[in-house]
Amino acid sequence: MLTPEQRDRYRRDGYIVIPNFKAPDEIARLRARAGDIVDAFDPAESRAIFTTRDQARASDAWFLGSDNTIRCFFEEEAFGPDGRLKQAKALSINKIGHAMHDLDPVFKAFTHDAKLAAVARDLGLEQPQIWQSMYIFKQPGIGGEVRWHQDATFFDSTPISVTTFWFALEDATIENGCLWVEPGGHCGPLRERFLRDGDAIAMEKLDGTPWPDDSTAVPLVAKAGDLVCFHGLLPHYSAPNRSPVSRHAFTLHVTDARTAYSPRNWIQRDADFPVRGFD
Ligand code: FE2
Repeated sequence: MLTPEQRDRYRRDGYIVIPNFKAPDEIARLRARAGDIVDAFDPAESRAIFTTRDQARASDAWFLGSDNTIRCFFEEEAFGPDGRLKQAKALSINKIGHAMHDLDPVFKAFTHDAKLAAVARDLGLEQPQIWQSMYIFKQPGIGGEVRWHQDATFFDSTPISVTTFWFALEDATIENGCLWVEPGGHCGPLRERFLRDGDAIAMEKLDGTPWPDDSTAVPLVAKAGDLVCFHGLLPHYSAPNRSPVSRHAFTLHVTDARTAYSPRNWIQRDADFPVRGFD
């Protein structure tokens, strides 16, 4: 599936962009399904998060409870000072997560794709395990920033194997908040580890290496249908979306079963709901 040049580039830069990976009809089906999930979502269910005094703990619980199910998350700027949505619900959701790839037939079909299995193999994932899916809306005007981070922070294994598959479902531009990465940055250390202990979460600082700045970061402008694959140690971020255009993307986080998945990662599976690969 990947050419030797693409594999070399991935090893050198820590990422590759594969143009036109998904066809317009596959994207249209995923987008429609995401729209249906948001339509069916009752904001009252998690609105409490933004009105309770114990906001941080309630929002952590809503997040932690989404590990092996399907939940919607609001954009931080979705609500006015009166606690009401400033725009329609469909334009207020930041993302859907985190197990659609196993629980929803449309997301499942998009994920379990022989072409994708071949790419994963070519990137060195011999026994892929898909832990997480996210549908990211990056809404017009209020799409939130995602600060610099490495995905291995959330999917630690020994040795590190997590690989991110990032599908552009709409054109991603500098204006609407495309990804920024530091080419070659995957050769640096893991800076932080996100740890779960029951209902408690904590960010552990591991290494003080500074995050990239404008001198080394490059924007990954992508067209709808493009697939970006990147290494779990690659530093990346995305700016807020202040443009009038949304920037939908879908992501999968995948480790290799030959590496030891940390029992302290926030997403775990048990025998009733085993983690699967692309087959
Ligand atoms: Fe990320």
